[in-house]
Amino acid sequence: MSITVHDATEVEAIVRAGAVAAATLQAVCTRVRAGICTADIDAWVREDTAARGATPSQLGYQGFPAAVCTSVGSVVCHGIPSKATVLRDGDLINVDVTSCFEGFHGDTSRTLLIGTVDADTRRVTEAARAAMWAGIEAVRPGARLGDVGAEIEACATAFGCSVVREFGGHGIGARMHMPPHVEHTGRPGRGPRLRPGMAFTIEPMLTLHPVGLELDEDGWTCRTADGSPSAQFEHTIVVTEAGALVTTLAEGA
Ligand code: MF3
Ligand code: CO
Ligand code: CO
Repeated sequence: MSITVHDATEVEAIVRAGAVAAATLQAVCTRVRAGICTADIDAWVREDTAARGATPSQLGYQGFPAAVCTSVGSVVCHGIPSKATVLRDGDLINVDVTSCFEGFHGDTSRTLLIGTVDADTRRVTEAARAAMWAGIEAVRPGARLGDVGAEIEACATAFGCSVVREFGGHGIGARMHMPPHVEHTGRPGRGPRLRPGMAFTIEPMLTLHPVGLELDEDGWTCRTADGSPSAQFEHTIVVTEAGALVTTLAEGA
């Protein structure tokens, strides 16, 4: 499966879709606080996405039942919003927004800390943020995906954290998930060579230590087997001559 090299018009469309996803994530995150439920986040994402003339890419994707993934605490990814999940002081939550605007997708997520969280929760969250940026900074024409994964892994290790290997980033464009699969670990000099016009996400999920994962009976919610916290950040980038163009930066973030 080959990696799409987008032309300038397509890159502009990916940039616009990224801006929409980023704006929705930003708008929703300002409303996240103790006492709300994750179903509230789903409602806000639906409203905000529609107000921008976009659609939530995740809704109905392979049967996913909501417009946004909300992953609380030990949930690694793909948490389903629910009225029963009420945020409390000390919680960590990842909010993952993917928007389709004029036929192209933007995908971005952030981990938020609710009130006062323990030191390990803070550490895994800061590690995930730093690991995402380490990966983004490794993007340039001629670099390889293994270079990107190796930088992410090295950053996670420097924080004493582990990279979840079961999930990766993905190419993005006219579809939400496209080739390549973007591993968040790797060996320098290995993997596909990056070229201007390629677009993909970098979205490392980190845990405090190597840990097995469990899938809930809902078929989506993925958790750490030992209940330890997991954090994630995600941006959609386009490879340019100058390096990574981050399409999902939010104003005011
Ligand atoms: N936004 C998620 C990602 O980063 C996609 C989740 S697929 C869904 O790739 F169906 F769970 F929404
Ligand atoms: Co993604
Ligand atoms: Co996402």
